[in-house]
Order: sequence, then structure tokens, then C-alpha cells
Amino acid sequence: MNWGLKNRLSKIIKPNTGHTVMLAVDHGYFQGPTTGLKIPRKTIQPLAPYADALMLTRGILRTSIDANIETPVVLRVSGGTSILKELSNEGITTSMEEAIRLNVSAVALSIFVGGEYEKQTLLSLSKLVDEGERYGIPVLAVTAVGREMARDARYLGLACRIAAELGAHIVKTYFCEGFEKVVEGCPVPMVMAGGKKIPEKEALHLTFNAIHAGAVGVDMGRNIFQSDSPIPMIKAVRSIVHENATADEAYKLFNQLREEKNPQ
Ligand code: R5P
Repeated sequence: MNWGLKNRLSKIIKPNTGHTVMLAVDHGYFQGPTTGLKIPRKTIQPLAPYADALMLTRGILRTSIDANIETPVVLRVSGGTSILKELSNEGITTSMEEAIRLNVSAVALSIFVGGEYEKQTLLSLSKLVDEGERYGIPVLAVTAVGREMARDARYLGLACRIAAELGAHIVKTYFCEGFEKVVEGCPVPMVMAGGKKIPEKEALHLTFNAIHAGAVGVDMGRNIFQSDSPIPMIKAVRSIVHENATADEAYKLFNQLREEKNPQ
């Protein structure tokens, strides 16, 4: 792995803990104005200081993020579809040249193993990895987005392993029963996507279980920005990922911080 690539990866996966809390705010690229992200700047700005990386598109980067931000950026570079159409029909939407110009720490794309356009998304990943290796930009592959995917250990293990085999430097996937087997079969760092909004206590248990199964962190969106207390929630997630807190300790912290913010 070349020095630039390692250096960029170390901005995302913090060397002092070996872990990361990424904040995913790229949902609009196929969902439009997602709940909690209707005004991206309003949501992202207060949370950014607590995130180890922000995952977003160039449109939101340009319009909603100040250029003096210290939080590293993971740029989503795949898309071309919407929730109204076949989601797997994605291509590369942003060039590596643009990613370099935007000074990002990694690029991200989705792969759709088992989807109608599986091959085109896997070839896009391979192309992106070739370019990323050339310019020192890590590639994060997102697996298993889509309604019809069975998110069990067998399917996720297959998708994550394929992403790693094609050269992804980080793989993002969903939690499932037997997640440790998915991690075991994937020789590159894995981050867990949060999925749809669930109660904070459950999301913190999910985070704890993923970390203890071997994930290096989370790339979480809705379970943070759709919480009624997003900053207490991201701090609680951080306590698990970076400080070895249990899910119950993190939930206690969440409630404490929420009460401090909104005293009765
Ligand atoms: C999906 O393709 C996007 O990459 C989202 O960023 C991803 O689903 C993670 O967000 P959430 O935690 O809301 O599932």
C-alpha cells in the first residue's frame, strides 16, 4: 500500500484506537431530501466535530460544508439511480480527478452483489481501485443496499469478500446474526452501516455487537441524524467505538447528555 493511501486511511481509522465513527450523510444521492437531512448544512455542521469522517456527495460538500472543516471526507462517487428505479443500475458519477481536487480522504461506491446490474457495479469498483492505487486514494465499498437483499451472514459474507477480493480498502455492510463470520471472511477493515432508524438503545447494542465481532467502526447515518438528540447519540456511539463502553454505559451517557441539553 503506498504512503499516500496509508496516510489517508489513517485520517479515517484513528491510529490511537484503530477505530472510526463515520457519519453517513449521502442518502440524498438516491433518496432525495431524506428525513433529518432536508437542510444538509443544518444537520451536518453541528455533528461534524464528533465524526472521524463524513461520507457525502460532492454536491453536498460544495454547498453545505465549509472548506476549512477539519473532519476528513469520504466522497460518494457512485450513483445515477433513484428510489423510483432499479437501484443496482449505478455507475461512477464523480471522477478521481475531482476527488483529488476536493482533497478527500477516500472515495465510496456501492456494489450490488446479486442485483440486476451486479457486474457493472463490480467492474466500477475494480476501476476505482486501479485509480485509487494510482493516486493514493482509498476506496470504500458499500454492500447490500437495496430492498430485496437477504441480509444474512451468508449473503453479506459473499458480498464483503468479493469487495475485498476486488481491492476495496474498507468495506461497509449491515449487521447480521453471525457477523463475526462476515468479518472473518473479509481481509480488510469493515464498518457497519446503521440502517433504518431504531430506538437509540437498540442502535447502541448494534454498535457494541459489531465492534465486538471485529468491525473497526461504524458508518452510521439515520440512527444518528434522525435521533431527537443527534449530538448525545454520536457521543454515545463514540464511547463504544473508541472508549470500550458497553451498550448500557453508552445508553446511560446518551440519556445524561440529552437531559443536560433539555433539562426538565
Ligand atoms: C447508502 O447507500 C448510503 O451509503 C448510506 O450512507 C448508508 O445506508 C448508511 O447510512 P444508514 O446508517 O442511515 O443506513
